[in-house]
Amino acid sequence: MEIYVRKPLYRKLQKRIIMITLLVCFIPLILLGGIIYYQFANVYKEKIEDQVKYKAKSESNAVKIFLKERTSILSTIVDTNKFDFLKQQDNLFNVFEVINHRADNLGIVDLGIIDNTGQQLAYAGPYNLKGLNYEEQPWFNEVMAKGVYISDVFMGFRKMPHFIIAVSGYDRSGKWILRATIDSDIFNRLVKTAQTGRTGDAYIINKEGIFQTAPRFTGKILENSGIDITTLGEEASFEENKNTDGDTKYYAGAWLKNNEWLLVISQETGREMSGLFATRNLVVGIILFGCLAIVITTVFTTRTTLNRLAEADEGISELNAQLIQSDKLAALGKMAAGIAHEVNNPLAVIGEKAGWMKDLLEDEEFQESENFKEYLTSIEKIEHHVERARKITHNMLGFARRMEPHLDDVDLNEILIQTVELLESHARINNIEIQKDLQEDLPVIASDQSQLQQVFMNLINNAIDAIGSNGSIEIKTSRVKSNLIISIKDNGEGISAEQQRKVFDPFFTTKAAGKGTGLGLSVSFSLIEKMGGTITFESKKTEGTTFHVTLPVVIPEKK
Ligand SMILES: Nc1ncnc2c1ncn2[C@@H]1O[C@H](COP(=O)(O)OP(=O)(O)OP(=O)(O)O)[C@@H](O)[C@H]1O
Ligand SMILES: [Mg+2]
Repeated sequence: MEIYVRKPLYRKLQKRIIMITLLVCFIPLILLGGIIYYQFANVYKEKIEDQVKYKAKSESNAVKIFLKERTSILSTIVDTNKFDFLKQQDNLFNVFEVINHRADNLGIVDLGIIDNTGQQLAYAGPYNLKGLNYEEQPWFNEVMAKGVYISDVFMGFRKMPHFIIAVSGYDRSGKWILRATIDSDIFNRLVKTAQTGRTGDAYIINKEGIFQTAPRFTGKILENSGIDITTLGEEASFEENKNTDGDTKYYAGAWLKNNEWLLVISQETGREMSGLFATRNLVVGIILFGCLAIVITTVFTTRTTLNRLAEADEGISELNAQLIQSDKLAALGKMAAGIAHEVNNPLAVIGEKAGWMKDLLEDEEFQESENFKEYLTSIEKIEHHVERARKITHNMLGFARRMEPHLDDVDLNEILIQTVELLESHARINNIEIQKDLQEDLPVIASDQSQLQQVFMNLINNAIDAIGSNGSIEIKTSRVKSNLIISIKDNGEGISAEQQRKVFDPFFTTKAAGKGTGLGLSVSFSLIEKMGGTITFESKKTEGTTFHVTLPVVIPEKK
């Protein structure tokens, strides 16, 4: 039964306990989840950053080797051959044939020998370029000055992207140049190997931001990339942008060809981080599940605990009520003992004198008196009221008895049968039926027979009074664990909620003056209490009342 729900105090307490518990549990859980995710995300980003940087470095090395290899081959040809030899068309052809057959596909499309006036003296390759003059070309002066030159990618006469490598030689007749055209396609394929993953890109741009190799997604070779290369630092540089989807794109660059080309590696974090998002969803899932489990457990335990507390509280307040009742009776007991003692003696004298006066009235001279009848009724009234007063003092002494109850071997069923016998005629006159439902084999207990009879008498009398006429009383006995329970149920007028609190109070009565003393229940209460038992009742106005007397089973000692 959920007692606590009815009490605002418990509801408030429940709310507070649940709130505090949830706060104390949720905050660290959510914080922990957040921190773990944040750290994890950082590590993940760093991993992608490092990956991009590493790729740029290794890819730039591959490109450097590619260029160096071709430059070295050309330098070797220049160093091991004389200008006079190479400027002859047939000889150059031979050399061209040799390098294209002996080595792997180097991507060298043609070779040309140019003298110090820019005149191409010999040409080996698919086009007829012999006799062209390169003096006006900007690269011509550069190679003459620096010894080695690698051009940007351009279309040239051939209408396909290519670039040239030129190496200068020196002999008696002065400086001369060996120039080779490199197929851009093979170079493109090399850079493409770094276009990994779903979003990874790799390309080379020149100083003006023109693509030297084809990017994977937006743009074509020789188009403008839109990247301002001058903003990037000397070392392999690093940039970070947000695209329209909110994904971060990481760029890492590596300089090539004396800082004239930049190899760019890029990677979007979005899709690469799907592993991270899966982890995040798992973390959120675990936290949600944890929170749910905490809520359920907290609510459940709080409710159970408060329920127990409420039950215990109710028990305590019941106990308190009984203690107050016993206190009241104990105080009254002291007073009653004094009053009863003081009043009993005069009462005895009054009673005795009234008896003496009654005896005197038997004399003839009095009987002839005209007031004889009046004397007699007055004396009888005095006797009646003395008797009533004695009864009251006797009842009051019920509280005052200090001595322990006199212990007999008591058969409760037997006492009840005797008590009912005494009251049966009185009940029958008023058309009240008394039914008995007595459990057989009740143990004989050690208790005070006459006191118990007095208690049952009081309870059954009250039941008869409550019914008035026409009704029934049910008397039941039973054993529950180590207690005997006697219930007396009537279908009388019942007790109103307000009076329920007072019925055990001494002198509380609803009966007409002179009819009830209001001591029956309070005396019964203290007698049963002394025996270690309790009296309780339940009642509903107009429906009836049931009184329960509970007595502990005290097995009599063997005599
Ligand atoms: N079974 C009952 N049904 C309805 N009211 C009851 C019942 N028993 C007791 N009461 C109420 O409790 C009051 C107190 O009972 P109690 O036995 O102490 O005194 P009383 O019966 O009034 O007087 P006395 O017992 O001296 O004749 C009664 O006046 C009555 O109002
Ligand atoms: Mg009574």
